Amino acid sequence: MGQNTAQTNEQYNEKQVFSMPRIGDAAPAFKATTTQGPINFPADYKGDWVILFSHPADFTPVCTSEFITFASLEDKFAKANCKLVGLSIDGLYSHIAWLRTIKEKIEYKGMKDVEVNFPLIEDIKMDVARKYGMIQENEDDTKAVRAVFFIDPKGIVRSLIYYPLSLGRNFDELYRVIIALQTADEFGVATPADWYPGDDVIIGPAGSCGTANDRMEDSDIDCKDWFFCTKKLDKDLVLDRILKK
Ligand code: BEZ
Repeated sequence: MGQNTAQTNEQYNEKQVFSMPRIGDAAPAFKATTTQGPINFPADYKGDWVILFSHPADFTPVCTSEFITFASLEDKFAKANCKLVGLSIDGLYSHIAWLRTIKEKIEYKGMKDVEVNFPLIEDIKMDVARKYGMIQENEDDTKAVRAVFFIDPKGIVRSLIYYPLSLGRNFDELYRVIIALQTADEFGVATPADWYPGDDVIIGPAGSCGTANDRMEDSDIDCKDWFFCTKKLDKDLVLDRILKK
């Protein structure tokens, strides 16, 4: 019985092993064919934020609703200096046929005639999906889960979100993450729960007793206690700094 359990655990652990970049890691590099031609990632995106995302399969309904939404928001993300790159374990011709069908036939929440202009990677051999831990075998061993990697202009992974096959992504949250990450970089602050531009921001933890005292006495900073300090950050200032004109 003990031996059987050990074998089962070994097999289980073997199945679990997959590589996955984590926050702060360099985004794994790859070259791939896409619906917009070849890409060399992340080198081609130096200087831009990128959302690299996977979806389970072409010609599936949740993915279709997501692609229509991503494509409709492409300009909004571009204004926040953020490019979109998609991926699934499908071939190029499937991708092309699916995107043509979306444009010609599918309407979702009033969005119709939608053209997907960002690259969709063909990854039939799962090379890229494996590098990014997009195949999670206990969910599905031939389809990518809905992974979202937020990659900064230096090619560093700054955040990641994973959703299962059955759950379509929340695009308000994806946009909020891109704006919040850039706000943290631009203003040297952190953003609290459910933060949106215009809400107060968090001043990072005090590193010394002196800093803690200074903060308690600073009239621009609102400290509930020495470790919980916020300040106002004007919405227009945030958006002026982050959004392209
Ligand atoms: C979908 O996109 O609809 C979907 C894909 C794979 C499994 C379940 C749903």
